Amino acid sequence: MTQSKAAARITTCVFDAYGTLFDVSAAARRAAEAPGQEALAGVWPALSADWRRKQLEYSWLRAVTGDHTDFWQVTQDGLDWAMERHGFEDPELRETLLGLYWRLSAYPEVPKLLATLKARGLACAILSNGSPDMLGAAVSSAGLEPWLDALLSVEEVGVFKPARAVYDLVGARFGTDPGEVLFVSSNGWDAGSAAAYGFTTAWVNRAAEPVDRLPGRPQHVLTDLSTIPELL
Ligand code: LAC
Repeated sequence: MTQSKAAARITTCVFDAYGTLFDVSAAARRAAEAPGQEALAGVWPALSADWRRKQLEYSWLRAVTGDHTDFWQVTQDGLDWAMERHGFEDPELRETLLGLYWRLSAYPEVPKLLATLKARGLACAILSNGSPDMLGAAVSSAGLEPWLDALLSVEEVGVFKPARAVYDLVGARFGTDPGEVLFVSSNGWDAGSAAAYGFTTAWVNRAAEPVDRLPGRPQHVLTDLSTIPELL
């Protein structure tokens, strides 16, 4: 099958949230801009990367062991690990960073992209590890509600990505076959796992990382979200 024939079947665009629509580094970056945060200003990129890495590791470990908790808990646990590693014992900074995580910036191309997809008649949704309240707050603070038909959270199935039960939520909500879905993620492991599941996938590889060596490979590799309409 040619790529254009496959693309013509797409009816539904499903986006990962954190790192894909929302810039997870924005919390530490913004906190570091505040007066009195000189120590953070020196290390915020490394602290932010460690926070994200531990948040994801804890999500995978809890999925493997069956010891589920929600994404808000692993977000706090990841931050506590990262703050200790970088020598911050500062409850006020912890609260600031966690507060900022509820209103992360969307990447600049997101509103126009979602408006374009909706104007073309596609259904648009988020499928995320995030708990429903976290997703609702992020979407609302970024002003993205008008374009999103559903915010699908792993809390409906009680296990984190990349469990197949999570990707099943899309068909359950929209009645789609996996091949009708364009799944978009900046997380290489999420895009690869979604491809193995059967979604048409686009990996947003902003950092020019190598592709993850997993059973599935994303069909499309993009540098940002702006070219997604060209895939349809
Ligand atoms: C999410 C994480 C993986 O939004 O970024 O599901």
